[in-house]
Amino acid sequence: MAKEAVITLKDVDVRFHEKNRDVHAVDHVDLTVERGDIYGIVGYSGAGKSTLVRAINLLQRPTSGSVNVLGEDMLSLSAKALRGERKRIGMIFQHFNLMNSLTIADNVAFPLKGLRPKAEIQAKVTELLQLVGLEDRANAFPTELSGGQKQRVGIARALASDPEILISDEATSALDPKTTSAILDLLKQLNETLGLTIVLITHEMEAVKQICDKVAVMDEGAIIERGSLLDIFAKPQKQLTKDFIDTTLQLDAAIASVRDQPAVAHLQGADQLVRLTYLGASTDQPLVATLYKDFNVTANILFGDIQILQGTPFGNLIVVLSGSQDNIDRTFKYLADNDVQVQHIDKEA
Ligand SMILES: Nc1ncnc2c1ncn2[C@@H]1O[C@H](COP(=O)(O)OP(=O)(O)OP(=O)(O)O)[C@@H](O)[C@H]1O
Ligand SMILES: [Mg+2]
Repeated sequence: MAKEAVITLKDVDVRFHEKNRDVHAVDHVDLTVERGDIYGIVGYSGAGKSTLVRAINLLQRPTSGSVNVLGEDMLSLSAKALRGERKRIGMIFQHFNLMNSLTIADNVAFPLKGLRPKAEIQAKVTELLQLVGLEDRANAFPTELSGGQKQRVGIARALASDPEILISDEATSALDPKTTSAILDLLKQLNETLGLTIVLITHEMEAVKQICDKVAVMDEGAIIERGSLLDIFAKPQKQLTKDFIDTTLQLDAAIASVRDQPAVAHLQGADQLVRLTYLGASTDQPLVATLYKDFNVTANILFGDIQILQGTPFGNLIVVLSGSQDNIDRTFKYLADNDVQVQHIDKEA
């Protein structure tokens, strides 16, 4: 059964005209996010990520294109209807945007002020603070909290109006890796327990890898590649996508140290130094065994990194393949047929 689309952007274009320059911030983007997705949008600074997601709740009106959120054609709504619609789309930010003069409880209560009876708001705030693990800090002020705790407050506040969609714009970029991981785990938990749809903007592929099930790569305003997390990691097409994936591996250091090894210094005949990348069942052992058994090619593993992505092994090996030229050629064909990506590595930097 097809899942319900909760966000549908069609041909969304955003241009800014400034005195000395014209900026094409979002370049004819189509995007569909389905209910329950954790959809990552990754790109370098200036790629247009924030402008794109601001077009979802019309904090940024597109120059052209259509925006449908939760069944509403956003561009046709009255100002009042738009305010109502925005309550269904929560947002969290890099710098938390908390009010330092208000307690944690009052920050979380802020979006509900005047909309519901006091006792009801109080109960809701207690529930939200429990949800993010801050029930004992209700009366503290933001300046007394760590960055990770401040973002938990930001999340609780974003959830005050029971949104169905949460947009996270670089929400972990100001946090250290361990705190980042804990916040991402919290988002994943909210996705699972509340059915919350999450759009996660980031320049860190590591964050995408940890919790997203779909990913789009943005460059110069356009989405240049998109797909399920596993498809993108298994078969990235664009160099930028490959570069982002490589940031989640410690390959540069591995290649540098591999080049110092005698097996590489003394490559013979048809020997090849290659990186093998694969996703799924073909774990290193059967792969290496098959190359020897079926092609009489030995694979000397100099470096290996196997991680689990959504329960699926994602492997990167640096190996020296040795055998006759013919057999090595047959090996490359076999690897390609089995969805193992092969990348040649120069033996010298
Ligand atoms: N209000 C604006 N007026 C003029 N130009 C803008 C405006 N907002 C964004 N831009 C420009 O649009 C482009 C995309 O900016 P955007 O903030 O969407 O990128 P980003 O991918 O979110 O970057 P970052 O990772 O640094 O947050 C940039 O060139 C930026 O300078
Ligand atoms: Mg941004």
